[in-house]
Amino acid sequence: MSRLESFIRRMQAQRDCINLAAGMIEDVPGVVWEFGLGNGRSYDHLRETFPDREVFVFDLKPYAPMEFRPPEDRLIVGDVLQTVPAAAAASAGKVALLHYDVGTGHRDDDVALAHTLSNAIAPALAPNAIAMGVYELSIPGTSALETPEHIGPGRYFIYRRDGV
Ligand SMILES: C[S@@+](CC[C@H](N)C(=O)[O-])C[C@H]1O[C@@H](n2cnc3c(N)ncnc32)[C@H](O)[C@@H]1O
Repeated sequence: MSRLESFIRRMQAQRDCINLAAGMIEDVPGVVWEFGLGNGRSYDHLRETFPDREVFVFDLKPYAPMEFRPPEDRLIVGDVLQTVPAAAAASAGKVALLHYDVGTGHRDDDVALAHTLSNAIAPALAPNAIAMGVYELSIPGTSALETPEHIGPGRYFIYRRDGV
């Protein structure tokens, strides 16, 4: 499969999984966390899909056009390894959906970061919250869910926080 085809499928999977999450967190109160602003594409889709929820975005160096950035007080700038632990403590149990799209283009590093960060994310998730993203996460207290059949294995990962 060409790199272009693979990119298109990843974007389709991203859109479809975000759309799917809307139904999955209907009864879960809380905010949305977006990891990785990039060009603001998935952020824009999240704010459109969840108009009644606050969407907070984490990124090292935001470069998206201003119209595709969140308000300043919902943009957490810095290395997620530094910013997430404090944010998770301050928002314990308040995140209904976490969308993970942090990347540097170096797959092995990105996979490792997703794994390392998983522990820090855990306290933020509300009971029955959904975490999803481009890389496998290993957030304690969550269980992996099947992605829709058309997405194909390994393209997107979805987890539900266990209820308490
Ligand atoms: C693939 S892009 C995100 C694309 C975005 N979701 C979109 O739809 O346009 C990955 C983002 O991760 C950010 N990033 C990479 N390493 C990071 C780190 N350690 N902490 C915070 N953000 C990081 C980059 O700055 C980049 O904006």
